[in-house]
Amino acid sequence: MRKQIVAGNWKMNNDLAETLALLTDLQKQTQTSNAEVMVAPAFTNLYKAFEALKDSNIEVIAQNMHYAENGAYTGEISASMLKSIGINTVILGHSERREYFNETDESLAKKVDAALEKGMRIIFCFGEELADRKSGNEGTVVENQIKNALFHLSAAAFQNIILAYEPVWAIGTGETASPEQAQDMHAFIRKTLANKYGADIAEEVSILYGGSCKPGNAQEIFSKPDVDGGLIGGASLKAEDFYAIVNAF
Ligand code: 13P
Repeated sequence: MRKQIVAGNWKMNNDLAETLALLTDLQKQTQTSNAEVMVAPAFTNLYKAFEALKDSNIEVIAQNMHYAENGAYTGEISASMLKSIGINTVILGHSERREYFNETDESLAKKVDAALEKGMRIIFCFGEELADRKSGNEGTVVENQIKNALFHLSAAAFQNIILAYEPVWAIGTGETASPEQAQDMHAFIRKTLANKYGADIAEEVSILYGGSCKPGNAQEIFSKPDVDGGLIGGASLKAEDFYAIVNAF
């Protein structure tokens, strides 16, 4: 049975005091679902966050990393640095990284390899822009993003990969993919995986939806058979909202 996961991507929000306050609030919430819960604070707050949540069932994860092990890459963070403070999961390929920091399928493939080599789990993000959907190209765009960054991997590597379909037009816009649009795309993604790696592998990979997921729409989206959870931006910054989404399963 594949895992249900709800992960909060805090993006560039919350200083240290705000981070610790939100973590305290999160720990006061009651979880009634079986979903795995993760939160991704900013780099500067990761270590304290990890320490604060060490004995909880919320995993602290990173929003990004560099592909090199170490070296002259000013301002960057490596997989070993994350591992050294207890972080075992990293988000890679977010559309904001692709758009504002020039991340490409090629650089992401290197990041994926570096994370896997260190035994990390990856939440790999991808998704089409509005123009792609308007022109009916969303399937091709998504398929290429997945193939270019992931299809050099062995089938076994997918034990450590979680996919996150995040249509760019739905991120932070208040406009969500309809549950049917999400299901159609998630089923297409699973079929793309099955064609390359076989149905057994494809059935085991969790595929999360991200893009204006809120307490009011999470349940309907998560009720779809190929939607295994969510990657949550804005609504993950309020403990009650985030847990309303966690408990939407
Ligand atoms: P919002 O939930 O704010 O639309 O952001 C989604 C997202 O980008 C999660 O990674």
